Amino acid sequence: MNKRGIMLITMAVAVLALGTTVFAEGEKIGVSMPTKDLQRWNQDGDNMKAELEAAGFEVDLQYASNDVQTQLSQIENMIASGDEVLVIAAIEGSSLGEALDMAAENEIPVIAYDRLLMDSDAVSYYATFDNYMVGTVQGNYIVETLDLDNVDGPFNLEITAGDPGDNNAGYFYQGAIDVLMPYIESGKLVVPSGQIAFDEVATPTWATETAQTRAENILSSNYADGETNVDVWLCSNDSTALGVENALAANYKGSYPIVTGQDCDIENTKNMIDGKQAMSVFKDTRTLASQVVKMVGQIVAGEEVDVNDTETYDNGVIVVPSFLCEPVFADANNYKELLIDSGYYTEDQLQ
Ligand code: BGC
Repeated sequence: MNKRGIMLITMAVAVLALGTTVFAEGEKIGVSMPTKDLQRWNQDGDNMKAELEAAGFEVDLQYASNDVQTQLSQIENMIASGDEVLVIAAIEGSSLGEALDMAAENEIPVIAYDRLLMDSDAVSYYATFDNYMVGTVQGNYIVETLDLDNVDGPFNLEITAGDPGDNNAGYFYQGAIDVLMPYIESGKLVVPSGQIAFDEVATPTWATETAQTRAENILSSNYADGETNVDVWLCSNDSTALGVENALAANYKGSYPIVTGQDCDIENTKNMIDGKQAMSVFKDTRTLASQVVKMVGQIVAGEEVDVNDTETYDNGVIVVPSFLCEPVFADANNYKELLIDSGYYTEDQLQ
């Protein structure tokens, strides 16, 4: 064989080795997303659609307006219309049992996307970011920034966590609390509102307005004397951080606290640049989408599916084989490299 022939064969082998791009034959994949209200799910949906289509799949992408009943019927329609694999980011992890049973009866593999699907054995795989690590990144940032190992404080801390219906929310909270609890116990961190337990600090549906109203109440009950400062406000994600930042802007005259977040939403990234939010945790939705597209390709091709965690995510019935992507610390110093240089946002979007 001449050199050109060898080159062509080498190229063909390389294309095959790239994997997901070649073996899809128009199978329809159902992608069920919770809501269009939050920036990240729009990005997740867009990325999944683009990547699945590039891999040759047809895509049935639906958003459920944060309404569990809507999500249930959308998934049932996906099954009825012959979708081959379902990718589901649940509004409420334990409320989709009926639809999951229907998927199992029809032998349709289900991938839980970002949020675990609970109380069902009909969940084939889970792809997410390391949720506990998101919390530890936030907690460690607080410890380092306040230098808690070397100074006595005390510093005032308030806590805003996520949606009790979202299994992730407990992991974010626990990751951060496991880091901070020794300092709360030693008195270096004090929580003037007294609200520490997850149930006391949770924010149903992760709503900005709910987080804002609770923060306004905490500020007026504990920090209105003009002398008491809140030094740090642990917020599990950006939508709740935004509520706290709005409350601080409206009702607080003390020195500005460290506010944490997660997602690098546009509004929050602007606030990081303006000094109103100290940090966020970047979870590149492109990475998660690529991983899920890879999983879908492996499922459809009957290949072994890549997972890197087979112990952590017990959904109450089974331990779901998972792939955890790594979350990354973000602040005003590295956002350009993380978000702009990587093409996640344009500079204009952050003006
Ligand atoms: C996601 C977070 C997001 C939150 C609210 C969680 O399940 O992992 O990235 O901020 O939902 O949408």
